[in-house]
Amino acid sequence: MLAMVITGFSETAMDIRDHLLMDFGWKFNFGEWGNFDNDFKSGTSYFTYFAKTGYGDGPAAPNFDDRAWRSLDVPHDWAVEQPFSGEASHSHGYKTVGWKYPESSVGWYRKSFDISNADLGRKISIQFDGVFRNSIVWVNGFYLGNEQSGYAGFEYDITDYLNYGGNNVIAVRVDASLEEGWFYEGAGIYRHVWLNKTNPLRIGQYGIFASSELEGQNAIVTTRATINNDGKTLENFKIEQSIVDAKGNTVATGSVENLSLKPTISKEYFCKIKITNPSLWSPDSPYLYQLKTKIYNGENLVDQQETNLGIRTIRFDAIEGFFINGKHLKLLGSNNHQDHAGVGTAIPDALQEFRIASLKAMGSNAYRCSHNPPTPELLDACDKLGMLVIDENRLQGINQEHFDLLKRLIMRDRNHPCVVAWSLGNEEWAIESNIKGARITETMQRYAQTIDSTRRYTVAVSGGCGNGSSKTVDLMGFNYLTQCNIDDYHLKFPNQPGWGTEETTGCGTRGIYEDDKSNGHMAQMDRTGGASIETGWKFYDERPWLAGIFYWTGFDYKGEPNPLSYPAVSSEFGIVDACGFPKDVFYYLKSWWTTEPVLHLLPHWNWKGKEGKDISVWAYSNCDQVELFLNKKSLGKKTMPKNGHLEWMVKYAPGTLSAKGFKNGKENIKTQIETTGSANAIQLLANRNSIRADGEDVSVVTVRLNDAKGLNVPIGNDEISFTLEGPGKIIGIGNGDPTSHEPDRFVETISSSKISRMNELVLKSLDSWPDIAAKVTEADWKPAFRSNRNDNWKIYKDTLIALRGSFDLPNLSIKTVVNLFAKSISENQSIYINGHLLASNIGRKDAQTYQLDPTSIQKGKNEYVVVGKRFKKKSEWDEPNTNPGIIQVVIPAEPWRRKAFNGLAQVIIQSAQQPGEIVLKATAPGLTPTFIKIKATSATLRPAVSSR
Ligand code: GAL
Repeated sequence: MLAMVITGFSETAMDIRDHLLMDFGWKFNFGEWGNFDNDFKSGTSYFTYFAKTGYGDGPAAPNFDDRAWRSLDVPHDWAVEQPFSGEASHSHGYKTVGWKYPESSVGWYRKSFDISNADLGRKISIQFDGVFRNSIVWVNGFYLGNEQSGYAGFEYDITDYLNYGGNNVIAVRVDASLEEGWFYEGAGIYRHVWLNKTNPLRIGQYGIFASSELEGQNAIVTTRATINNDGKTLENFKIEQSIVDAKGNTVATGSVENLSLKPTISKEYFCKIKITNPSLWSPDSPYLYQLKTKIYNGENLVDQQETNLGIRTIRFDAIEGFFINGKHLKLLGSNNHQDHAGVGTAIPDALQEFRIASLKAMGSNAYRCSHNPPTPELLDACDKLGMLVIDENRLQGINQEHFDLLKRLIMRDRNHPCVVAWSLGNEEWAIESNIKGARITETMQRYAQTIDSTRRYTVAVSGGCGNGSSKTVDLMGFNYLTQCNIDDYHLKFPNQPGWGTEETTGCGTRGIYEDDKSNGHMAQMDRTGGASIETGWKFYDERPWLAGIFYWTGFDYKGEPNPLSYPAVSSEFGIVDACGFPKDVFYYLKSWWTTEPVLHLLPHWNWKGKEGKDISVWAYSNCDQVELFLNKKSLGKKTMPKNGHLEWMVKYAPGTLSAKGFKNGKENIKTQIETTGSANAIQLLANRNSIRADGEDVSVVTVRLNDAKGLNVPIGNDEISFTLEGPGKIIGIGNGDPTSHEPDRFVETISSSKISRMNELVLKSLDSWPDIAAKVTEADWKPAFRSNRNDNWKIYKDTLIALRGSFDLPNLSIKTVVNLFAKSISENQSIYINGHLLASNIGRKDAQTYQLDPTSIQKGKNEYVVVGKRFKKKSEWDEPNTNPGIIQVVIPAEPWRRKAFNGLAQVIIQSAQQPGEIVLKATAPGLTPTFIKIKATSATLRPAVSSR
């Protein structure tokens, strides 16, 4: 029994491999590019961190005082928290971030964490899944590196820099002054952070790679395992692998035995494992196995890792298109950037799933990560829900930095069954149509094949088809029908498979049917002529050799409000808006991409003032015939053309517009829209009424403006206010209006004020203060702390002193909270603010926090006085603290509110780490208020680094 317990323990013990979430308990403050004072003088010391190892200064120094900084958790996107301005970057959604706004473009993050003595001897690293962008990281003042990319994951070995059995500080400087993409990119630590701990003999970073082939009824899984020996002696070991099905049964095993590695050596080992009658992974049935890899050093388990494994084969054919598990499948896809309404790029994992599920709901089975490596959890969601992915590299090039980024992308993502192809680049105009493009693409492809030869490589090309990149690329990516004669191209290159990496959806605002461009609203172009979603689908559907189509875009995204500009701030290319609310074209695609009966009418039926005038009514449906009725009177039955839509001109009269759909002559679906009354009540609907109380899970709440009959008012626009009670918080709010300048997030504003201009005065007795204050003249005050430095350190030991400085405060509203984070600058000090005693006779403490009484402070200059006994130096080299502390000014967040755009808005709620009932209340003047309860159920927390 004892032996079993011990074995059981050693298999799961914390000392095998820890992958600890490091998202909670960060401190944040803006620095400033080009202004060293406002950037905490980072890098300005006589010896900098570039000069001497461990010399991180400013916030990079371990003892830096960050108490006045804002407390937050990551993922965090500070760009989404900024206001809009017509002067800011068009492509990035007019948020006041970027080189024109140096004061909101550099962000500093700090976090303290403990490392126990027991960790000594383990390999410890810090892993960032993505930081936008140009990040510099220090631990305990040691410079770890600089990552320019805002999309690549990166990891630093911190083993030798740590304080074992003590406190450690990580500092990250993020500089989002410059842009990488031409779309909204966010700013900050917007993906997860992890602390990894392993034994020196271990599986290397992204060291496991499994691929599968089918042989009759069986699958042959080829695994590769890279093992590192970072220890000091030669190690003998074996690798054991098992494949576990979704029910937890082990279905196959394999091992590689009698292995040894000299110190510092890393090597890759192969193993073939057969699974009989496997359940295959596909978009319709995304079955996942777990591959468990264990490393034994003698009898001791020293490392283990679990990897998602989807058994599937893929093939691109130049004549017949794409095949998965031997079956033909058209890729029905969309391009997407990585921001969502309210939260920007800081997307919680559960929201990734919400987004993928929203796209799957229209029958989409494919997703292109345009134009950058995605968040790992996006791919997890695609594995889990069944969505095929083009995983895209950011920039084409053939030098070390380009190869390194490409390698990291492929190594990280190659185990995801959802990934069917790697994209090397998008619309690289300087090269895509010339010989350089042909060369660069060929060189990159050749290099990448050495990392993953199980998938094809594509480049999304917008011009010069037949020249440049397209000449050498493995799988041709066509961006837009209008930019290339695809049929001609196919005749010239009949052996090259291809797909539509981008195709137009047209543009349009959800719920808008008449252009109002000066206000940033556009009717869907499908209805106003020009390139349309229908043209694209007809073209791709008719050509089996084209593996699929990826529309630009699935979701609306911030930035690129083309062809409009400010006040429009978000793109309108989406099939769903930035919240995920479907636009009408969603139903066009659903009709032709699913077998579910679909019947959708547009526009809405609220056209007061247009009585008797013609309204063009469309039906999207996959029925054979559709009959339309106005107020129960038939307006005729029409036959649906394949991949088309139906249209009637209807003289407007308020009431009910309804339709019946017929399949094989029989009615199989009906629908109706009604003229609604004005908004009367608010309705809240959650995508999930129960979430995990883990501080990460989210519920996405739809806010509807309804009339007295409960019908959604499609032209309603009332502003709604929200309050939340219980163990959770609102993390973002949106409404899909591409012109809305309302805040996405309501957060507190924190600024700080230094206590400076310090002087000192020798006192006879401490009781004499503050009476003596009035009696001394300015000339009696001498610059503080000078004597400590110059004179004999022993002679001041019993001196009583007053130390006087000042701090400035901005205009204080009734809500402003002013906190003092003091530090002792004398023994047993008493603190006076503007002559008011704040604290008396406190010991020598480095952490003293006070909320200042509003009656004791004022706008402008405030006096700060400390009286006590001068610090006695403990030795000649002792440096008694001379930093009095810092003042923090907090303007609390305003209450959350948002207009319901065309009758809809969205609130994203995140759980806290306590179970309970979360209650979201919604109110608006003149409307019946409402509330919704969301249950936060107790959940196992992911192993995490505790926040201090
Ligand atoms: C494409 C480009 C996309 C986006 C789109 C807007 O050419 O690849 O990233 O900019 O145009 O129309």
